[in-house]
Amino acid sequence: MNIEFIHPLIVHFPIALWMGALLFYLLYAWRDDFFYWETALWLHGLGTLAGIAAIISGEHDEELVEETLEKSALAHNVLEQHETLAKVLTGFFLLLFIWAFWKPPRRGMRAVFVLLFAVGVAALVYQGHLGGRLVFEFLLGTQ
Ligand code: HEM
Repeated sequence: MNIEFIHPLIVHFPIALWMGALLFYLLYAWRDDFFYWETALWLHGLGTLAGIAAIISGEHDEELVEETLEKSALAHNVLEQHETLAKVLTGFFLLLFIWAFWKPPRRGMRAVFVLLFAVGVAALVYQGHLGGRLVFEFLLGTQ
């Protein structure tokens, strides 16, 4: 890997932190123990900061692969999807964080909250898949 590429060093953090947050939100919904809620909130907040860092580093790395993008319309298209989804996802998790932080969902709304969070994590898995395609299919960042 080229040392100039910083995005691959960062991306594991939002993925692991948001997935960890889902686990602890589920544990909270199941056990009703505030410890799980607090842990989930920390993971969720840190994951959102890491998501912002992933966006900044992604924009940085995008400039380094411009030559390859000019040659392949498909690679360009997949990168556009990857970039858009990153911004939508980070915004979505930020909104959920603001909701959870200021007004923790009451019992009835908890299932809705966890379901929305799980939908975000499913989209995050797809986001990782698109990132993987960029590297392993179009070889971005490998030359
Ligand atoms: C939530 C935010 C993001 C996540 C979780 C994410 C995730 C990933 C993953 C998992 C990879 C494959 C890395 C590897 O296997 O080495 C990747 C590659 C890549 N992503 Fe992202 N990404 C995000 C945002 C962005 C944004 C906003 C851009 C800007 C255009 C971007 C541009 C790239 C590029 C150019 C690559 C291939 C070269 C490289 O790794 O530097 N990403 N991304």
